[in-house]
Amino acid sequence: MRHLMSPLDFTTDELYDLMRLADDIRENRQKYAKACEGKTLATCFYEPSTRTRLSFEAAMLNLGGNVLGFASADSSSAAKGESVSDTIRVISGYADICAIRHPKEGAPLVATSHSGIPVINAGDGGHQHPTQTLTDLYTIRSLRGEIGGLTIGLCGDLKFGRTVHSLINALVRYPDIRFILISPPELVVPSYIRDDVLTARGIPFTEVKSLEDAMPELDILYMTRVQRERFFNEEDYIRMKDFYILDKSKMELARENMLVLHPLPRVNEISVEVDEDPRAAYFTQAHNGVFIRMALILTLLKEAGTL
Ligand code: CP
Repeated sequence: MRHLMSPLDFTTDELYDLMRLADDIRENRQKYAKACEGKTLATCFYEPSTRTRLSFEAAMLNLGGNVLGFASADSSSAAKGESVSDTIRVISGYADICAIRHPKEGAPLVATSHSGIPVINAGDGGHQHPTQTLTDLYTIRSLRGEIGGLTIGLCGDLKFGRTVHSLINALVRYPDIRFILISPPELVVPSYIRDDVLTARGIPFTEVKSLEDAMPELDILYMTRVQRERFFNEEDYIRMKDFYILDKSKMELARENMLVLHPLPRVNEISVEVDEDPRAAYFTQAHNGVFIRMALILTLLKEAGTL
């Protein structure tokens, strides 16, 4: 049984296959309209979500399949104390594939040990968000032609932002990638990313505080929101939340072909005036999430022998 816990669960060749399948789905929607007829996706979300849950559901519906699930721990039997292990055992009898989001790091991995169906990590605490990474890689490849030879600025909450951790892990496998890590000192990337991934692999990176200074060097700016829900106290969050605000004046410092990505939701870190800039790609990125998740569902169900 193949699951998706981390973007590293797929080789770069397999990721290219997935992206090619997503391209084909995007260009030939009718061809896939019944591909998952009779199959069911469960979305078990113990944390809030708009994009991930609804794009998974849209993906399965576009494939002709069915969806069921819950959108919060409170509306499931987790509120009565049921474990993730018991929940996935039960869901295995109701669905063919399951996407789980959970506030605890490793919870989707625990589910895999008790599951009879493929499990997809739809975000676990501050750890990983592999399907966001698939979406990010797919967007970069779609808009830049290839993944490689890029200077990528990651800006904001690099400590708690799981999308950043997953994306760094995935991007270091591509050629000639350089990172500029832009954050306040309190929100730098964890050592398991800086030391164990970047330094250990000899990937060029710098850690800086100034977004303005970094702007002219970037091919891609990946903005992130400060993760309020992971802070231990509200005062620290309030102090940090508006540390970076990307606006028109900062965009003037950037290259003409720089892309602005953001996993969304945004709070204040990108001013709405930037939305009209042709370099703002974050809504395209959110829409791309449906095609790559369709490709993922098809691939995992085929590998499970369900299709
Ligand atoms: N990017 C992302 O994970 O968004 P949601 O929290 O809305 O799913």
